[in-house]
Amino acid sequence: MGKLIKRVIIVTVFNIVQIGDEILRAKAVEVKRFNENLGRLLDDMAETMKVEEGVGLAAPQVGISKRVVVIDVGDGLIELVNPIILEAKGEEIDEEGCLSVRGEQWPVARAAWVKVAAMDRHGNKFVKEGEGFLARAFQHEIDHLDGILFVDKAIKTKPVKIKGKIKK
Ligand code: NI
Repeated sequence: MGKLIKRVIIVTVFNIVQIGDEILRAKAVEVKRFNENLGRLLDDMAETMKVEEGVGLAAPQVGISKRVVVIDVGDGLIELVNPIILEAKGEEIDEEGCLSVRGEQWPVARAAWVKVAAMDRHGNKFVKEGEGFLARAFQHEIDHLDGILFVDKAIKTKPVKIKGKIKK
């Protein structure tokens, strides 16, 4: 019988930076080195997203101001390095939340369909299209790389009047 080889994989789960921290407002830096460190960052971000039960995470949210994003809306992990939106079509308003803005959900108007150009962890370029919830995730996460949070774009409705009283 062969030897039993025990493989130990060490992953880090990051703390999520919360709104108010200036790193969330900075323009993240383009990735130029496609090395082991980038691979580890992507792995750790994916693990953090899973633990936090998020559908997307941008590097500034874990305190690293680089243009790196992970997304998983239920159809598998998507890694985006230096992503840009090439094309956008339509408009859709839907509720959004963010791991960096805990406890808040607001409707946000987003393009219903987008085409994104990005690189993988090895620096290979690719193009990906997404609609609906995936298109929303692309736009939300790419906004993070430019210091934009969903609350900046949120359609914050007026306080609802119930039986003549303002509900706070
Ligand atoms: Ni977010």
